[in-house]
Amino acid sequence: MSTISMKERKTKMEAITTKLIIAGILFLLTLVSGVIVSHSSRPYSIGLVTIHKLIAMGTVILIGMIINQLWKTADGKAIIEISVIIITGILFITLIATGALLTREEMQLPEIVIKIHKISPLLAMASSAVSVFLLVNGKS
Ligand code: HEM
Repeated sequence: MSTISMKERKTKMEAITTKLIIAGILFLLTLVSGVIVSHSSRPYSIGLVTIHKLIAMGTVILIGMIINQLWKTADGKAIIEISVIIITGILFITLIATGALLTREEMQLPEIVIKIHKISPLLAMASSAVSVFLLVNGKS
C-alpha cells in the first residue's frame, strides 16, 4: 500500500471517529431528552418533544452516514453485516413511527407502543455498535 493511500485512510478513519463520538453524544442526548419528555406532565410540551425529535433525527442521520461511509470502504460484506444493518434500520424506523404515534394526543394508544419506544433505543444502540464494529473489522 502506498504512503498516500495510507494517509488517506488515516484521514478517513479520523473523520469517522469524530462522527462516531458526535453520534454517541447525540444518542445520549436523545435518551436523556426522551426521559425528560417521559417524566413531564401530559399533554407533552411541544418544545421538549421537538428538541427530543430533532436530536433523535440528527442521531439517526449521523449514524446512517457513518454506516454508509464504512459500508463503502469495507472489504468484507458478509450476510451477517447486511442483516445487522437491516435490523438497525428497522429499529430506528420503529422508534420514529412509535415516537410519532406517541405525540398524537388525540389517540388513546395501547401500552405496547410506549413499551416498544422504551426498549428499542437500547436495542438500536447495541445494533448500531455491532454494525460499526463488523464493518470496521471487515477491512483488511
Ligand atoms: C433515535 C430515535 C429515538 C430514540 C433513541 C428515542 C428515545 C426515547 C427514550 C429513551 C424515551 C424515554 C423513555 C423512558 O422514559 O424510559 C423517549 C420518550 C419519548 N419519545 Fe423518543 N426516541 C426517539 C425518537 C422519537 C421521535 C422521532 C419522537 C417523536 C416524533 C419521539 C417521541 C417521544 C415521546 C413523546 C416520548 C415520551 C413517551 C412517554 O410518555 O414515556 N421519540 N424516547
